[in-house]
Amino acid sequence: MHAGAIGQHEDVADLSSMRTDYTAGRLTEEELAPTWVEQFDRWFSDAVAAGLPEPNAVVVATADADGAPDARTVLMKGYDASGFVFATSYASAKGAQLAVNPRAALVFPWHPMQRQVRVAGRVERVGDTASDGLWDPRPRGAQLAAAASVQSTVVDSRQELVDRMRLLDDQSAEGPLPRPDIWGGYRVVPERIEFWQGGTDRLHDRLRFVRDDAEGGGWIVQRLAP
Ligand SMILES: Cc1cc2nc3c(=O)[nH]c(=O)nc-3n(C[C@H](O)[C@H](O)[C@H](O)COP(=O)(O)O)c2cc1C
Repeated sequence: MHAGAIGQHEDVADLSSMRTDYTAGRLTEEELAPTWVEQFDRWFSDAVAAGLPEPNAVVVATADADGAPDARTVLMKGYDASGFVFATSYASAKGAQLAVNPRAALVFPWHPMQRQVRVAGRVERVGDTASDGLWDPRPRGAQLAAAASVQSTVVDSRQELVDRMRLLDDQSAEGPLPRPDIWGGYRVVPERIEFWQGGTDRLHDRLRFVRDDAEGGGWIVQRLAP
């Protein structure tokens, strides 16, 4: 059960035989949409139509002031030509990292489509009105949980959080809660966006839009070796 010198637990599946041949499709320069946002529209629509669980789940990587990386999944709440938006606590670990190093990378892991989309760029807060727009549709329970939990701090127990939530529930008027100042949206403003389609024999298609400042804010497309 051991894969050479690479450690592998005895009782789990044989990882060396876990490989899928990627035959779902190709991504050619001819079929690539003229803009990254139109290409993302197509692939995101495909992921939704295919019934992927949480197609808007995206891994967000950030780094602290020393460059130490960190990553976690969030839900993309919107996108357009200006970037990708997610909502979170500005006081969380990711919020602290983004305060000192406002850059992030995203990965949309659409494995059943044999696709991934990778994004890198700078990060900005979306502003109060847009953050209210992200907060208001949350059910009261989710608003209470977000307001009662100081995200990413160490707590003594789950009960402590439940108690805080109940207290807040009792203390606040019925209906929607006001948005806490520390909760809101971030926008990842892309500088590079890569569309990856798995290929036969691991000859994957990788087409990347790169912002080209020399072109006055235009974009160039590059093909990357797999
Ligand atoms: C599918 C999924 C969706 C999630 N969506 C969000 C989200 O939209 N916002 C958020 O703050 N955390 C979300 N989380 C939780 C984060 O992964 C993470 O635990 C939390 O944001 C704290 O991260 P941090 O300590 O790096 O700041 C989600 C987790 C999963 C698995």
